[in-house]
Amino acid sequence: MLRQRPPRTLVLVGLMGAGKTSIGRRLAARLGLPFVDADQEIERAAGCSIPEFFERYGEPAFREGERRVIARLLDQPLQVLSTGGGAFMDADTRALVRQRAHSIWLRAELDLLVQRTARRGNRPLLKDSDPRETLRKLMELRHPYYAQADITVDSGDRPAEDTVDRVVESL
Ligand code: S3P
Repeated sequence: MLRQRPPRTLVLVGLMGAGKTSIGRRLAARLGLPFVDADQEIERAAGCSIPEFFERYGEPAFREGERRVIARLLDQPLQVLSTGGGAFMDADTRALVRQRAHSIWLRAELDLLVQRTARRGNRPLLKDSDPRETLRKLMELRHPYYAQADITVDSGDRPAEDTVDRVVESL
């Protein structure tokens, strides 16, 4: 466990549907670390769901809140932190993650992202659009940023525990 890198918080990044929350939770259990989901922390701080937040205050306010919440979480002791798909687009967040944590990009194919995000209708960015087309565009836009993570792990169509194995092996 954590053989090559000094122990630091592990931050999961990647697109919606890549499995950041489910892999993050399992990874934390495997490493005996607390698991924190940044989106849930934002919801708790705001007192409403993310779709409600987008509707009431708009995306720029969400991004601002997201940046603040992640900065606060990165001040806390060692943990596994899963972030919303847009968090790593923010230059300040990327810089802070680089300073304080190890980042892991969970990369998944478009088909899988489409399938997984269709199961729960809680993604405001996919709401009034063709989800496949939106996810494809987001891939194009965001992959160069995710690729700046310390580690990249394919989160393919395989049991979650196998993906966790891959993450642990690459630490
Ligand atoms: C977003 C991803 C969501 C959530 C918000 C915006 C994005 O999180 O933060 O809906 O910009 O990709 P997940 O990646 O956990 O779905």
